[in-house]
Amino acid sequence: MQNNFKRILVTSALPYANGHIHLGHLAGCYVPSDIYTRYQRLCHRDVLHICGSDEHGVAITISAEREKTTPQAIVDKYHAANADAFRRFGIHFDNYSRTSRPIHHETAKEFFLDLLDKGFLVPKEQDQFYDAEAKMFLPDRYVEGICPNCGYDKARGDQCDNCGKYYDQLDLKDPKSLITGKTPVVKRTKHWYFTLGSFQKRLEEYLEQHAPEWKDNVLQQTRSWLKEGLQDRAVTRDLSWGIPVPIDGADGKVIYVWFDAVLGYISATKEWAIGQGDPERWKQYWCDPTTRYIAFLGKDNIVFHTVVFPAELMAKTGYILPDNVPANEFLNLEGGKFSKSRNNAIYVKDILDRYPADLFRYTIATNLPETKDSDFYWKDFQAKNNNELADIYGNFINRTITFAAKNFGNAVPPLGPLNERDQAVLSFVRTAPERIGGLIEQFRFRDATMEMMNVARAANKYFNDSEPWKSFKSAPAECGTTLHICLNIVRSMAVLFAPVVPFSSDKVWSMLNIADPIAKEQWSAAGEMKLPAGHTLGTSEILFTKIEDAVIENELAALGVHAAPPAAASAAEYAPLKPQVTYDDFAKIDLRTATVIAAEAVPKSKKLLKLQIDLGFEQRQIVAGIAEKVTPEQLIGKTIIVVANLAPAKLMGVESNGMLLATAADGANFALLTTSKDVISGMGIK
Ligand code: MF3
Ligand code: ZN
Repeated sequence: MQNNFKRILVTSALPYANGHIHLGHLAGCYVPSDIYTRYQRLCHRDVLHICGSDEHGVAITISAEREKTTPQAIVDKYHAANADAFRRFGIHFDNYSRTSRPIHHETAKEFFLDLLDKGFLVPKEQDQFYDAEAKMFLPDRYVEGICPNCGYDKARGDQCDNCGKYYDQLDLKDPKSLITGKTPVVKRTKHWYFTLGSFQKRLEEYLEQHAPEWKDNVLQQTRSWLKEGLQDRAVTRDLSWGIPVPIDGADGKVIYVWFDAVLGYISATKEWAIGQGDPERWKQYWCDPTTRYIAFLGKDNIVFHTVVFPAELMAKTGYILPDNVPANEFLNLEGGKFSKSRNNAIYVKDILDRYPADLFRYTIATNLPETKDSDFYWKDFQAKNNNELADIYGNFINRTITFAAKNFGNAVPPLGPLNERDQAVLSFVRTAPERIGGLIEQFRFRDATMEMMNVARAANKYFNDSEPWKSFKSAPAECGTTLHICLNIVRSMAVLFAPVVPFSSDKVWSMLNIADPIAKEQWSAAGEMKLPAGHTLGTSEILFTKIEDAVIENELAALGVHAAPPAAASAAEYAPLKPQVTYDDFAKIDLRTATVIAAEAVPKSKKLLKLQIDLGFEQRQIVAGIAEKVTPEQLIGKTIIVVANLAPAKLMGVESNGMLLATAADGANFALLTTSKDVISGMGIK
């Protein structure tokens, strides 16, 4: 898949500089692209990560009016704020540029004129609404009227929010200008159209050539666009904010924001190259077929990157096209259960004073909307912090370093002969870089992150099973071997987790007192033992502290989400007691703890979920009728209770080998049976 390339160009969608970056942006695009580039850097590949502010378009002018200021003031404010939010969140770009910079205006004009020259941009006259008082043509978002389809009276210029219908602006009934409130007149105007249709065939070939590697959501959206047949699209607008159309007689017209924004990736790379003192170097990334180009973005941007941008690049010639566009779906908030009148987003600028960035990075990474929309829940955030980062990752690292400090003079003890358990854990860790790296290369960041945590799980279990607190007295050399191994796993974990929780990895690194930075590590060798006996450690510090319930309740209250107290069931809702059974009857049922390792919907079924569960001694599949009550994401990693000796059955043709236990209720009274704390899988229950 990734064999014959020399370097990797990574771009992340340029956010509009008219609002603050929130968790949805991070999950859709920037957490994945940052994990990907951090990982590639640890593989010591030549990788460049480009981003910046998208500063043109109606979105910006509308914000300026809303905030009663100028478009320039808007983009200045949000560019600075977003650059800072990304930096504090640890999203690293080689350049975070702006489309308002001269180098970008030049680049966009060069493309525009070249395409015009080649006949790919053709002028056409059309009628459009004109606000005579404001003396301007009205872009779609500046007109409101009655929907020609359903009669909704707040329909937008080109689309009705009520019935979803797209139509021509001029079909809107009783149109009103949103600028002056007046009825606009119809006036003739001229625009330049990009002949997208002439690229239909080449775009189809381009898509199908990449189809085997591209994500389903990306393929489907793109295919459905291509299937409808590509129409020529106007790439100029009557607007005063943007890049002026570089043609005589086109006064008052600017280049359409989407035509120029995607070119921002190129101009930002040029700007980077100039900063490197090597102005021509951008061409290595954009014009050399030995570069692999990955474009990260959220689902609302897909076709602009799989159809429009590639067509612009094909038209210009000499540029490479995106090799992959691993777009994510949306991250929703609290299942939409928050107060709509208040903020319906969690902004990066607000949360970093209260919580470390790594906590969000991890929570988001384990819950990325990779194949479909997912939800951010504050309770899940708390659970991931308390039960995984603190209890597994942090616990292992802290107990290992504290033990070494106390019992081995804060240094790495020597390694003696290895027993089976030692060998098993070492081989699990040694092969982890390949397992995790393989998933990252396939853009499966969620699974990759879970695979990272599995290393911490295995390490914790190894510590428990080895019982160094006992062997320290009975067999000190053996205890030394255990700690030698544990300290080396701590080192491996710092490298393996670095793409997801880089701030914590740096802390662990200094706890280990390693002089060279993590950046010098080689990903493929991250699972090897490199801390020599005798190496002196640094000081231990707590990595993650538990988040109290009250803290989470506050967050929920701020969103307008009130944890509804479970409704008391009325007498009629209590199921009647079943007839008595003897102890022997009960004892026939083999109840066990199990861990959910995978969960997915059963196709064509509204109710059924298919789970892969780990029983410790074996793994199996069960089917449960809970699809309307929990999402597969909420199940993965959970400890559940199953009837392990239930006779196998088929549900909608899917084999089920056991039964999951949950309350027989809906809504607030629905709950899965689980254990009061983490225990290993396969434990009997009596
Ligand atoms: N500004 C757009 C948005 O926030 C994304 C632009 S991506 C780029 O939805 F291709 F234009 F860069
Ligand atoms: Zn309508």
